[in-house]
Amino acid sequence: MEKTKLKLFFFKICFFLFIGFIILLNVESYNSSSKKVIERHEMKKRGVVPLTTPLHQLNLKTPEDVLEALLHEEKNNNQIRTEIRQMLTRLKSVGGKNKRRKRKKRSADILRKCNRDDQRLLGPLIIDESSIALANISAKNPFVGKGGKFSPNFCTPEQEIAIIVPFRDRWPNLLVWLNNIHPVLQRQARSYRIIVVEQLDPHPFNRAALLNVGAREAEILGSPDCFVFHDVDLLPEDDRNIYECVPGSAIAMSVAASKWKYKLQYEQYSGGVMAVGKRELDLFDGLANSFYGWGGEDDDLYHRLKWSNTSIKRNPAHIARYRMLGHEKAVESPILKNVMSLSERNLLMKEGKSNIKYKMKNLAEDSLFTWIQVELPPPKHKGKKSFFAKAKEKVDSFLGGAIQHIFKQKQEDKYYSGSTSWAKDVDRF
Ligand code: UDP
Ligand code: BGC
Ligand code: MN
Repeated sequence: MEKTKLKLFFFKICFFLFIGFIILLNVESYNSSSKKVIERHEMKKRGVVPLTTPLHQLNLKTPEDVLEALLHEEKNNNQIRTEIRQMLTRLKSVGGKNKRRKRKKRSADILRKCNRDDQRLLGPLIIDESSIALANISAKNPFVGKGGKFSPNFCTPEQEIAIIVPFRDRWPNLLVWLNNIHPVLQRQARSYRIIVVEQLDPHPFNRAALLNVGAREAEILGSPDCFVFHDVDLLPEDDRNIYECVPGSAIAMSVAASKWKYKLQYEQYSGGVMAVGKRELDLFDGLANSFYGWGGEDDDLYHRLKWSNTSIKRNPAHIARYRMLGHEKAVESPILKNVMSLSERNLLMKEGKSNIKYKMKNLAEDSLFTWIQVELPPPKHKGKKSFFAKAKEKVDSFLGGAIQHIFKQKQEDKYYSGSTSWAKDVDRF
């Protein structure tokens, strides 16, 4: 009996000691967290705003890191941001750039993932349509690297994006586009590379084949998870229209364009600006290569999406808005009906990104874009051509494209002055 009482007494003591210990622990942690709240409050009162990300998580190794962290902190103060940017540019010009690049590579895997809070969106944008020289655009975008590449260095974005622009003889549009697109993509904290694919041969323009070339070359240059096919004449009017890909769908980003009074042209429209993930693009093998001349390749893309069970998500019309720049109106392809009828019967699925043939004449990494110049093979499908089209083709082949070459060279010289590394005359089969 005595023994049982003693045991009970002993257990009671242990139980109360245990409860006392738990209470002590809680009081301690309550004290330290309330201390932190009081500290932050005190700092604010003294005009010292605490950092949104604790210092130890920032991995600050160089003066540029410190400036960039400050840039991130000063989200809302444009005056201070401009001054910090100027300091950064000055630092880079005295040789800080390489150090920053090296560090970025090593720390890419330990940086936290980017989230929506890293984006500094403005919403509806004022569009700058003025003509501006490449050098001035570069100066305005000091963080854009060679080849038109950018990645935020305070977080790791989830996707590597290749923005691919089909191009021929539209230099004025290209400059305005570059001037508008880089700031938007940086504010959206994207990791991206701009790839401009230019058609050099004298055949009719082939937007789809150039997009395939761009996707192929992007995969050789890096490992993109997301491809955005982007017309050079479309300028985003709202930066809430995020450049990104989603699994299982293509995203139609240009839903409302100024040229069509901000109305979707038709239900199936799949042109302008389309974002497609790597897995999806491989599933339907890019675009068809037979669409020489204006029209149809985007409607064929719609068929390819449907047949590969890839849905189309259209971003909301109030943000998926684009200003279309003026350009010469293209003449509809004379073979459009023939090729379209093949597309409708699902006979073009055998051609695409995987079997496109082209000669890569040049690859240059400019300060604002990667510039790929290609020659495509002549069109396979012949349609009924007008007398004028036939005569033009004869003259072109007789002169070996000399007239186009002179015209092209003139445009290029006017807008472009020199670039860096080149890879010349590579056959891709
Ligand atoms: N494009 C080009 N040069 C041409 C024709 C087309 O660079 O001679 C490219 C350019 O990116 C353009 C896109 O192909 O934005 C679509 O062509 P276009 O603007 O003529 O077609 P639209 O959509 O206006 O009917
Ligand atoms: C053409 C498309 C074009 C659309 C809008 C269609 O008839 O086939 O390529 O994007 O019209 O202009
Ligand atoms: Mn256009």
